[in-house]
Amino acid sequence: MRILITGGAGCLGSNLIEHWLPHGHEIFVIDNFATGKRALVPDVAGLTLAEGSIADAALVEACFARFQPELVVHSAASYKDPQHWAEDTASNVMGAVNIAKSAALHGVKRIIHFQTNLCFGRPQKLPVPNDHPLAPFTSYGITKTAGEQMLFLGAVPVLSLRLANVTGPRLAIGPIPTFYKRLKAGQKCFCSDTARDFMDMADFLAFMDKAIALDAPTGVFNLASGEAHTIKEIFDLVAAHLGLPPQDVPIQPVAADDVAVMMLDASAAKAAFGWDIKIGFKETIARQLAWYDAHGVNETYSHLSTGKAA
Ligand SMILES: NC(=O)c1ccc[n+]([C@@H]2O[C@H](COP(=O)([O-])OP(=O)(O)OC[C@H]3O[C@@H](n4cnc5c(N)ncnc54)[C@H](O)[C@@H]3O)[C@@H](O)[C@H]2O)c1
Repeated sequence: MRILITGGAGCLGSNLIEHWLPHGHEIFVIDNFATGKRALVPDVAGLTLAEGSIADAALVEACFARFQPELVVHSAASYKDPQHWAEDTASNVMGAVNIAKSAALHGVKRIIHFQTNLCFGRPQKLPVPNDHPLAPFTSYGITKTAGEQMLFLGAVPVLSLRLANVTGPRLAIGPIPTFYKRLKAGQKCFCSDTARDFMDMADFLAFMDKAIALDAPTGVFNLASGEAHTIKEIFDLVAAHLGLPPQDVPIQPVAADDVAVMMLDASAAKAAFGWDIKIGFKETIARQLAWYDAHGVNETYSHLSTGKAA
């Protein structure tokens, strides 16, 4: 299949490339390297890279005209500076508009979009049901939600996945790489008084293999483990993994731009796609830490203002 991946140099995109290229799929990546790495889109057969922003309509159109994708995986997103509303709007809203328009013009069969669970805002119910109302309240959440809705306004069928925190190779966002990097460097940490839903990359990739079937369901689906684990649990697991004694760590109240507990009910996705989580929480974290042991942690990113200090 010819698959165009926006944001292919990022964490999810590059894992999809590594997973799909050996299956014989042809892949075309558009990335501006805002948070992705050029080296993750190597010059190998079956893989083409266009450097630039999806906010650039002419660039997007030229890529679609050249590659004629059958499927689009829309993974590009801007989030690293919570105050850069203009960049979030350009990438997450106008980027989605450009994808929707060019996809329709070039007969793309379906678009798969990755949505942040921040689209739900502060959940009214846990685990968050598939049809929970949307109430984003951050620049990232608001612009990603607008982008998702623009995709659904277009002519091409869309599958939008409201994702848990997907862990795996090159993960550079969230508490796991942050604690690993800081504890290894002997730096102080704090834990926010929050809990999150974690899903291993292998479970995500297994789902994606089902999702790219051209007759697979479309619409919106939560994709998650359905369990919430506290940030303190993560801290303790990272500290133990690094051989550090149990330690007190300051617990900070939930920040104004954060959500206390996020766990998503993925029963609709399980039923519709015949998929389920195979890797439990502790193994998910252990696999991530083993990856950092082998490869290290580079720059970490956060969509939270407080994350900048972490
Ligand atoms: N990883 C997760 O756990 C998770 C959870 C929820 C939602 N998501 C969504 O999944 C997608 C991928 O996330 P990720 O974790 O791989 O993040 P990432 O930062 O590793 O990847 C995003 C990629 O998009 C690129 N990008 C940003 N703005 C761009 C633009 N204007 N034009 C072209 N490329 C651009 C970045 O350079 C990067 O390579 C995002 O849409 C994100 O909102 C991810």
